[in-house]
Amino acid sequence: MKIRRDYTRMALERRQSRTPLFDALRNYVKEGVMSFHVPGHKHGKGLPEFTRFVGRNVMNIDLTIMPDLDSIYKPHGAIKSAQDLAAEAFDADYAHFLSNGTTAGVQCMLFTTLGPGDKFIVPRNAHKSVISAMILTGAEPVYIQPYVDDYLGIAMALTADEVRQAVRQHPEAKAIFVINTTFYGMAPELERIVEIAQDYEIPVLVDEAHGAHLKFHPSLPMSAMEAGADMAALSTHKLLGSMTQSSLLLTRGDLVDHDYTKTTLNLTQTTSPSYPLMASLDVARKQMFFRGQEMLTQTINLSNWARYEINNNVPGLYVYGNDMVGQPGCYEYDPTKLCVNVRALGISGFEMERLLRQGFHIQVDLSDLYNVLAVVTMADTKETVRYLVHALTEIARKYQVQDVREKPIELPPLPAIAYLPREAFYAETKRVPIEQARGKIVAEMLMAYPPGIPLICPGEILTQDIIDHVRMLKEADAQIYGTEDPNAEYIKIIR
Ligand SMILES: Cc1ncc(COP(=O)(O)O)c(C=O)c1O
Repeated sequence: MKIRRDYTRMALERRQSRTPLFDALRNYVKEGVMSFHVPGHKHGKGLPEFTRFVGRNVMNIDLTIMPDLDSIYKPHGAIKSAQDLAAEAFDADYAHFLSNGTTAGVQCMLFTTLGPGDKFIVPRNAHKSVISAMILTGAEPVYIQPYVDDYLGIAMALTADEVRQAVRQHPEAKAIFVINTTFYGMAPELERIVEIAQDYEIPVLVDEAHGAHLKFHPSLPMSAMEAGADMAALSTHKLLGSMTQSSLLLTRGDLVDHDYTKTTLNLTQTTSPSYPLMASLDVARKQMFFRGQEMLTQTINLSNWARYEINNNVPGLYVYGNDMVGQPGCYEYDPTKLCVNVRALGISGFEMERLLRQGFHIQVDLSDLYNVLAVVTMADTKETVRYLVHALTEIARKYQVQDVREKPIELPPLPAIAYLPREAFYAETKRVPIEQARGKIVAEMLMAYPPGIPLICPGEILTQDIIDHVRMLKEADAQIYGTEDPNAEYIKIIR
């Protein structure tokens, strides 16, 4: 019998097995070119103490823009080829390497689609990079307050109904911003949201800081590009193995002007990108293309094993899983995120984080009042996950399990918007104690976990409900973020 070969697949694999940027760097080093360019450490020789620790190769490839290595400002060589391969692997039309994090990608998505005064629909639990982009663009947010799960105390993803309602009320909106998945792994019904947006020809911008791996496994939530979204910013450095601060901006379709995207990207993107970061992204893309599914299958299995063990054998701890699917704001979830709820032990997530770190040398990704979030990745093994479960078991056995009544977290109502974030940011301000700022327009944000939703944003009017809520959170030991005052006792208000 003749063996039929799939030549298209073979050509694709041949292309994806290349790492053009990593290769260009290795070739440059191999050639032994004499450096009379920056960086001044010249292959690590100018900083021997550091080079001895981090290794010669990292310093060797810490290079700069030059003809052999292409330019991020106007890619046409090795960077361009690496970006094209990334676009192909992630199902996008175009990919842009980011060497200053997903923040640059989020800002670029807003710069590309919004101008001063333009409205856009955005969940209230969006990352602070969205707030900075609003300040820079002068865009006007139409907030959707996401559901908060009573027991877990966390903000959920957007629902399609919430988006439909917002678009009906604001058909003039110039973009819809969606988070896929949330920090805690909750995924929205993205395909449906894209359909709704397409009816109004509004581009969908997706914050996939926590979703770079989604595309590579069928049992993970759907990725932005698969769902037909127009733009997505992905933290490849979080869950795909590339180095911290390397991220990707993906675009597809005709709603977004590709050349203009490059222009807006260059508004904030560095002109001196880190080549080690970008090369790690080139290699991480290749690894995911060839081994993503296999590696993620192992990751998901490990995480599900831990989830089962904790839920069945560790009294007082609870990790959500399939039971959340179908709850408001959880269309799908990412099983690699182990969100361990500690409420029934009578301790806070902050305390659990401290006990794991001090007693077991384990550092988790995030903690809040009720949960610690442990991220299981393709770097984990049965041993590491077993040790995590062991540590949690040892800690939990020291506490009496309590009967936790549902204590709903009542968020204060959304405050009224008086100024656009940009107007508030640039207005003349003064700093006052939060207690004395009732009824005033603030120029800063106040945010805390739980539930990771800003209580107030620049340009909004501070209410007594919000002041009381901040006090309650502080008494419970929660960190409040957003003010220049590190203790969040003072807030800037508009004079
Ligand atoms: C939801 C979300 N969006 C965007 C970002 C920004 O990503 P980066 O830190 O890569 O700039 C983060 C960072 O944690 C995030 O959690």
